[in-house]
Amino acid sequence: MEIIIFETQQELDTYAASLFINLVNEKPNAVLGLATGSTPIGIYDKIVESYKEHKVSFKEVTTFNLDEYVGINPENDQSYAYYMNQHLFSHIDIPAAQTYLPDGMAADMHEESLRYDTMLAAQPVDIQLLGLGHNGHIGFNEPDVHLSGGTHAVKLKEETREANARFFASMNEVPEYAITMGVGSILKANTLLLVVRGADKAQIVKEALTGPITTSIPASLLQTHARVIVLLDREAGRMLA
Ligand code: F6R
Repeated sequence: MEIIIFETQQELDTYAASLFINLVNEKPNAVLGLATGSTPIGIYDKIVESYKEHKVSFKEVTTFNLDEYVGINPENDQSYAYYMNQHLFSHIDIPAAQTYLPDGMAADMHEESLRYDTMLAAQPVDIQLLGLGHNGHIGFNEPDVHLSGGTHAVKLKEETREANARFFASMNEVPEYAITMGVGSILKANTLLLVVRGADKAQIVKEALTGPITTSIPASLLQTHARVIVLLDREAGRMLA
């Protein structure tokens, strides 16, 4: 596991973006695993900046997002599909047909999970971007006594709904369910890129990266992967020796 701690958000975002840009320049048909939330926004901004400076093209790239809320239409500005268009896809030259998210409006979540896993198996992810929940979740794989390998629907923990309530008008509007890649699907990516910011995540960063591997901290499973890059700001990394 390679852990890099950055002094400024600017440096962290630039470095993370460069990992994607360099990969796409070396492998134009790369498969990128993407995430939402507040953590990746600056990284997506840097990627868009490079695209606008003609330093990279995404015409042949395929993307898979980690997760989506259940019951929220892609046109709804709270959906992760909307977020991805707003922060990345609408600003670069990637064809919409090459951008995949789990369908949170699917009638049958089990079928939709199988469909997503079949696509992931056909196009393995080269690099998967991950944020970290305060409770140690990755994607929406919440702490539990067992974890699912493949894509699945999940009931969100109250703490996760509360953390995400800042993006909604009120707590009542935060969906109760999401559909997410499983930990097994995430671990199949060639490279995992975990990005964490902020003092409020310093404790969980320490536990996830240096504590025992446990399903009660899903991110601790990343310790089993051969190629993990962790990018932290100074605050998130302050409890690491
Ligand atoms: C988002 C996702 C989540 C977030 C995590 C951190 O697609 O899968 O695991 O990465 O909840 O969220 P932020 O970045 O908002 O702190």
